[in-house]
Amino acid sequence: MHCTRKLAQDIYWVGADDRRLEKFENLFPIPRGVSYNSYLILDEKTVLLDSADETVGRTFEANVEHLLEGRPLDYLIIQHMEPDHAACIARMAQLYPEMKLLGSAQAGTMLKQFFPLDLSSRFETVKEGDILATGNHTLSFIAAPMVHWPEVLMTYDMATQTLFSADAFGTFGALNGHIFADEVNFDRDWLDDARRYYANIVGKYGGPVQAVLKKAASLQISMIAPLHGPVWRQDLEYILHKYDLWSRCQPETQGVVICYGSMYGNTANAANALACRLGEAGVKDLAVYDLSTTHLSTIMGEIWRASTLVIASPTYNGGLYPPVEALLNDMKALAVQNRRVALIENGSWAPASGRMMRSALEGLKNVTLLESGLTIRSALQESAGEQMEALVKEILAGL
Ligand code: FEO
Repeated sequence: MHCTRKLAQDIYWVGADDRRLEKFENLFPIPRGVSYNSYLILDEKTVLLDSADETVGRTFEANVEHLLEGRPLDYLIIQHMEPDHAACIARMAQLYPEMKLLGSAQAGTMLKQFFPLDLSSRFETVKEGDILATGNHTLSFIAAPMVHWPEVLMTYDMATQTLFSADAFGTFGALNGHIFADEVNFDRDWLDDARRYYANIVGKYGGPVQAVLKKAASLQISMIAPLHGPVWRQDLEYILHKYDLWSRCQPETQGVVICYGSMYGNTANAANALACRLGEAGVKDLAVYDLSTTHLSTIMGEIWRASTLVIASPTYNGGLYPPVEALLNDMKALAVQNRRVALIENGSWAPASGRMMRSALEGLKNVTLLESGLTIRSALQESAGEQMEALVKEILAGL
């Protein structure tokens, strides 16, 4: 049976939830599932905005078929060629032989790369500023290169002032029957996954996101319809503000995130001892993570949230403990900026992890290393009290 929701006059959600996929992009755990959002406009012309992942293809096809009620599908707008939205394009082209495909020039190239079926005679290139009039609705296209693929086009419906924003404003999490952000407690139940999605999927491309936000500022927007997660029709300022902070990699909270690698619990003890003293000093926004047991995508979401990061690492094979090394590599890959970082190093005979962490963080823009830190020889002793006190004091001074 079909599962559709009406967004506005003539506009319907025809997407689907996936709760079976363990890892999005085969990388990021999604215990709350994910939605693949597609939208159908039933006007004088019928227009589908994006297809869906092949895992939900059956539901997606049934939804489109149900709403079309035998009408032909005139257009499929390809906003993005990543397979979680593009996988069903060839199938839709076969089901709807009159359907034209609209997308950026680069989407046209990728169409040939992804599908053996020759769809070139049905593909029309559209670019920023182009208009598609469908009857009561007029759609314009907005280029959003590198948010987070190069060929991305967003679509704006002038009649309903809806911005179909491609992956921007998306989040992990199945919709579970709700389609609008105002139908759920977004701040309580969704924000962490939205931030984790942003940091890991889009985080590297803050500059292009800022460019698109500037373009969006010139539009009257009443609704934002992303390709994953809830649609925004109320309190748009809330999510626009988050996106502005996230895309400038500015902290959302003055908080402390302590991440440690620990082989036998001694470096973990130092991290916990620091956390206790910060908690005692009144720091409320405080989190501690074991890098061996917490997925890196969660850590990256937390780094995007908080202003201060503490990284603690044993020395391992003369270098960094592998989970800490992975964290530092990811921080570089996602271009983390504008954070205060304190370091805790451990080494029983030749501590080197501090030096290596410092070197790994050197190239990151506006990442300030605190002067204080801890150097541990095997295990933290009570004699390290002064060092600890200085570290706590310096962390507190920046909150
Ligand atoms: Fe949701 Fe970039 O695909």
